[in-house]
Amino acid sequence: MNDKELVAVHAAKLVKDGMRVGLGTGSTADCFIKELSRLHKDEGLKVIVIASSVVSAIKAGEMGLPLQSIEQTERIDLYVDGADEVTLDKTLLKGRGYDLVREKLLAKAADRFVVLIDKSKLVGRIGERFPVPVEVMPFAWRMVKDSLEKLGGRPTLRRTANEDGLVMTSYGSLVLDTVFDATIDIADLDDALNAMPGVIEHGIFRGLASSVLIGADGAIQELDI
Ligand code: A5P
Repeated sequence: MNDKELVAVHAAKLVKDGMRVGLGTGSTADCFIKELSRLHKDEGLKVIVIASSVVSAIKAGEMGLPLQSIEQTERIDLYVDGADEVTLDKTLLKGRGYDLVREKLLAKAADRFVVLIDKSKLVGRIGERFPVPVEVMPFAWRMVKDSLEKLGGRPTLRRTANEDGLVMTSYGSLVLDTVFDATIDIADLDDALNAMPGVIEHGIFRGLASSVLIGADGAIQELDI
């Protein structure tokens, strides 16, 4: 079992009969979906799942998990997802996938949000390895770009892998991947992005994670401060 599978299997043990569980997106979340599906099929675990992305909804459906749409969801018991970067205060950077809005909605709606990572995701500061994804209304992208530059950011529209086209989220918005200087205060940046017109959502998840499970060389450590 690799480190991602290890934390995923551990997190699946937190799911109790009758829970509503949010499913994340990415390779670590996939391991969790697989284990949850096994528990549902083989051990009769009763669970309802709400997916954070179209891709995860398809996977959960194919694996026989009972899906509830996000439109029908107010609160959930548990949300389990990966992250792209994590700092020791449990602030996350997310959004390398294309369904950032749903991810933050589920993180906010969950009584408990458990983040699964391997140790490569631990960083000294948010933005150390990846730009901050800022999802924008398509017609607003130039104005938002200007606002981000005024904050000291260097935004670029996310492009497809072959550079031929622009990436669109599942809901038709664009993503400005924005590099900030190492000196920027992440709490101030989070507040500024939350208040910026034209921004639909952004990848800084501050004060949302309940615990972070870290798979490291076959063992599990927990960030729980
Ligand atoms: C999806 O938008 C991201 O927030 C993911 O949670 C992130 O990319 C983690 O993916 P891996 O588990 O594959 O690293």
